[in-house]
Order: sequence, then C-alpha cells, then structure tokens
Amino acid sequence: MKSDEIDHGKRRLLTATATALGGVGAVSVAVPFVASMQPSARAQAAGAPIEIDISALRPGELVVHKWRGKPVWVLHRTEEMLASLKTAEEGLTDPQSAGSEQPDYALNRQRSLKPEYLVLVGVCTHLGCSPKFRPEPGDEEIGADWAGGFLCPCHGGRYDLAGRVFKGTPPPKNMAVPPYMYLSDSRLVIGLEEGEV
Ligand code: FES
Repeated sequence: MKSDEIDHGKRRLLTATATALGGVGAVSVAVPFVASMQPSARAQAAGAPIEIDISALRPGELVVHKWRGKPVWVLHRTEEMLASLKTAEEGLTDPQSAGSEQPDYALNRQRSLKPEYLVLVGVCTHLGCSPKFRPEPGDEEIGADWAGGFLCPCHGGRYDLAGRVFKGTPPPKNMAVPPYMYLSDSRLVIGLEEGEV
C-alpha cells in the first residue's frame, strides 16, 4: 500500500471509483511522489513524528501520509478554497471548532498554522471511515450549492475544506487537526509542536 499519495482534484472524475485502501480513503492518483523523510514503518506505528516535504504540492492538491496508523492529509488550498470557508459557515455544525480536536494554533477559520496548508487527520468523526476529497464546487453528485470539501462514503458525512462538518449530516464534530509545526516553508513535521524540539 502506498503511504504517500497525491490527490489531484481536477482528475477526480478519472479516479472516483478508487477504493479506500486500509483506511486511506482520499481519492488519489499515483503521480509525482512528494518526497518525505519518514522514520521506519515500525517507528511510525509507534507514533513517531513524520517529516513531510511539501515543496512539490501544488495549489489544489492533497497528499496523504500516515501517522499513528491514520491517514493525515496535507491540502494546499487555493484562494478560492480559502474563500469558500467563509461562505460555508452558515451551514456548519461547529464553525468555530469549539467542540473539536485541534491544537490552539489551529483554532481559527482555516484550522491551520498557514492559511493555505490544511493538515488534518482524515478520519470521519462518525464511525471512522476516511472521507473523499471532493473539491469541485457544484459537484453534480453532491449538489449545486456544494463549495468543495470532503464527503464520507459510509453515511454521507460532509465537511468543508477545513474539515468542519455540515449540519444535517451524521458526524458529531469536525475532523481532528494533529499537532504539527513547520521546519521551513517547505517542510513540516506531524506529531511535534514548537517548543518540543
Ligand atoms: S463514518 Fe462518516 S458519515 Fe458515518
């Protein structure tokens, strides 16, 4: 199983039938590998931090890594994606993420340290499936008012592009933001925070 995959939203239609692999359920295309310096599989399973190079991650792309046995997404959001976070808020269960899991530094509308990069544990807060990346506004299958986000294939949970759940769908809270920090503009670490290194 690949532990690192890039998701190109524009190519979603080509891969919409992709099957979730081992809980890493984001629709994905095996295209240029985003280099990452990761500890051994055994160290990762034990919860070691993972270092990720995001220099090749283009706007609109999502890459999947694995940390503590769970998929962790890094999404490079476009300006349009960031704008959608504001317009989506009316329909959200918990727009301020008050009842959700995230570090204090991600307690903002974007739920991130840097607005353009979302780092999220890609696990649905309903029963643990991994939602699909569905970035196209007005997605025919989802609805004309869809501004882009994540759709859970199990029971229809819907999240915006910050992992915040929409009202009227089963998940009780927003997806979790893991602890993370930047080593530089192009490198980040999942599982470590400023002051811990
Ligand atoms: S597991 Fe995602 S909606 Fe039920």
